[in-house]
Amino acid sequence: MTVTIVGSQLGDEGKGGVVDLFGDRADVVARYQGGDNAGHTVVLGDTEYKLSLVPSGAVRGKVGVLGNGCVVNPETLFSEIDELRERGLEPEVNVAERAHVIMPYHRALDGIEEEAKSDADLDAGTTGKGIGPTYEDKVGRRGIRVGDLLAPDSLERKLSYVLPQKRALCESVYGVEPDRFDDAFDYESLLSLASEYGERFREEGMTVDAGEFLTERIDAGENVMFEGAQGTVIDIDHGDYPYVTSSTPTAGGAAVGTGVGPTVVGRGEVIGVVKAYLTRVGTGQLPTELGSVEGQTPEEGGRPEEANLATYIRDEGGEYGTVTGRPRRVGWLDLPMLRHAARVSGFTGIVIGHVDVLAGLEEVEVGHSYTIDGEELLTLPSTSERWARCEVNYRTFDGWPEADWSEVATEGYDAIPENARSYLEYVSDELGVPIYAVGVGPGREQTVVLRDPFE
Ligand code: GDP
Ligand code: IMO
Ligand code: MG
Repeated sequence: MTVTIVGSQLGDEGKGGVVDLFGDRADVVARYQGGDNAGHTVVLGDTEYKLSLVPSGAVRGKVGVLGNGCVVNPETLFSEIDELRERGLEPEVNVAERAHVIMPYHRALDGIEEEAKSDADLDAGTTGKGIGPTYEDKVGRRGIRVGDLLAPDSLERKLSYVLPQKRALCESVYGVEPDRFDDAFDYESLLSLASEYGERFREEGMTVDAGEFLTERIDAGENVMFEGAQGTVIDIDHGDYPYVTSSTPTAGGAAVGTGVGPTVVGRGEVIGVVKAYLTRVGTGQLPTELGSVEGQTPEEGGRPEEANLATYIRDEGGEYGTVTGRPRRVGWLDLPMLRHAARVSGFTGIVIGHVDVLAGLEEVEVGHSYTIDGEELLTLPSTSERWARCEVNYRTFDGWPEADWSEVATEGYDAIPENARSYLEYVSDELGVPIYAVGVGPGREQTVVLRDPFE
């Protein structure tokens, strides 16, 4: 069977930890979208792994797949594999021949376009990894795929077509000299770099037809976990467009992004990962935002009078970007966002984490609904502009005390402080989706498991 893990908010919900938690029963863990914009954390005792391309199942020695829906920076992938090997793991990563390759010029253009967009407040605050430009080329049918790295003729043909366009874009549209970016726009260097990547993919026998690979495994009775990256509200279709990433983190992406049928994904479980409050890295709306972060919070956004509370939660939760180190914007949980996420992905279960981070607060607020133009709204409006006009209707919950969370995790659900349980049950009831686990700390052991989706 399959289990799909989806971020239900804005990324960084704790998906890596959930993949690790339920990953013991999985045979294969497959990423289906995104690239090294992801930063997934797995904590095992004192050991922490931060993974951006290697699927999080690697920590448990599970077979990994990067599906056709991913964009792959081979440089990052190989250095991550090498680092994990140095740390004693043996990551097996099978990369789809249909996945697109992030080239150095994509990374350069990511930064150039963000800069240009910022004058019109259209910059998303990207991770700068070249994600958007690579997906653009994919859809524009001028991308370079992993399969091309293994086929010198097609690599040369495609690169020699696309590179003059990229140089012209840089020079004539953005007025930036391409040779400023080392060899990012240099044909010979790119060709030799791409050939080196291809050589390593070939030597290590890493490339596959992802759909075929996964289907054979599933037919043989193995369990497959699909590891979503990013989150619902930064989904290219279902998110806060244009302040989004360029892929489909929601559950539909698991089928399209790996080459198995939607019925295969739909027969399995779809688990939404929920952080007990909100964080956002980058620009865009966040109606329940506390405080604000310069350069990211939109004008008129945030509640500056709650800056201390935001700092408290940010520090307690270690809310600084895994990939970029940026302070994450912080806000209260937002139910319209979660209702939207549960519908788009068809959650069969949720995992709510970071419950320990809110412990010790006197009160905890939740955005229950919005009001816009005199009407109550229970889910998200379709445009960022309308979302910006929504007023939040809050519900206030009594806070819960600090606890020995490791002990709570050992004792089980009833050991979670009563007020926290009321909060958790409110979320589950509103979504009509059962809770499969509650995170009370970053470690694998600091989790209360109510139900294993593979059972
Ligand atoms: P991902 O991108 O969704 O995999 O999440 P990240 O790894 O970027 O960010 C989640 C952070 O929260 C990581 O540092 C995790 O170790 C940590 N974390 C996950 N679950 C919990 C939890 O229940 N409590 C606390 N305190 N930290 C958690
Ligand atoms: P994980 O998998 C949080 C955000 C960026 C930016 C927008 C577009 O760790 O949850 P991109 O570089 O993708 O073009 O940036 O999306 N973003 C993330 N935010 N977690 C992530 O991944 C993210 N990946 C991208 O901050 O606002
Ligand atoms: Mg992350």
